[in-house]
Amino acid sequence: MEKEALIRPSLLAADFLHLKKDMDGLVRSKTRFVHFDVMDGNFVEDISFGEHLFLPLFERYHKKIGFDVHLMVQNPLRHLERFYALGAREISVHYETISDCLPALERFKRAHEDLRLGIAFSPETKTSLVMPLQSLADFFLVMSVVPGKGGQSFIPESLEKIAMLDYFRKSNALSFEIMVDGGINERTGRECLRKGADILIAGSSYFRSEDKEAFVDSLHRSLADGTIE
Ligand code: DX5
Ligand code: ZN
Repeated sequence: MEKEALIRPSLLAADFLHLKKDMDGLVRSKTRFVHFDVMDGNFVEDISFGEHLFLPLFERYHKKIGFDVHLMVQNPLRHLERFYALGAREISVHYETISDCLPALERFKRAHEDLRLGIAFSPETKTSLVMPLQSLADFFLVMSVVPGKGGQSFIPESLEKIAMLDYFRKSNALSFEIMVDGGINERTGRECLRKGADILIAGSSYFRSEDKEAFVDSLHRSLADGTIE
């Protein structure tokens, strides 16, 4: 069966003065999810946005587009519970923040079968450290930039991480998905897909494109026309 490339635009790069326009554009561009980057000014330097922005957007758009919440916060469990209560069903927490709350995180995941949980990991974290969490993770989020800011350049070593996760998945007949976040454009996106990535998060490259629908289509097409096997 043909593999489908999925681009998820990151709202962090949207035009906050015209969020409605950008959200409507996302719906039109046929991306299936919007990526919602939550930063607490603690795990990362910046503060982005949180539950108060999520709720009105979710209420208005959740029937048209899925929300994927990326928690770059020091207390992931508390925010995971809150975003889940608000309706989010696809949420990622950072490996670097969960050592204190791992048993509680496992309990929460077991008790909420409709939650798709992601384990994100930063460039300095080795892939071999996150692999043992495969039974908890519906997906791994490979951070291909240092978390905390949009518009950075893709870190090439991330490609090895994707390949390693893909090999681990295939050789153990596992089914987690591999997402990549940071510095994705048409070129780096294709390289990630070639290494086995399933979903690409794109902030700046998507929102800076003149023709956003064409940008999404172009990566999707590159699979269909055999550019990527
Ligand atoms: C970085 C965020 C990313 C970011 C991606 O900390 O997690 O989701 O918005 O933005 P670009 O595509 O500009 O690297
Ligand atoms: Zn993100």
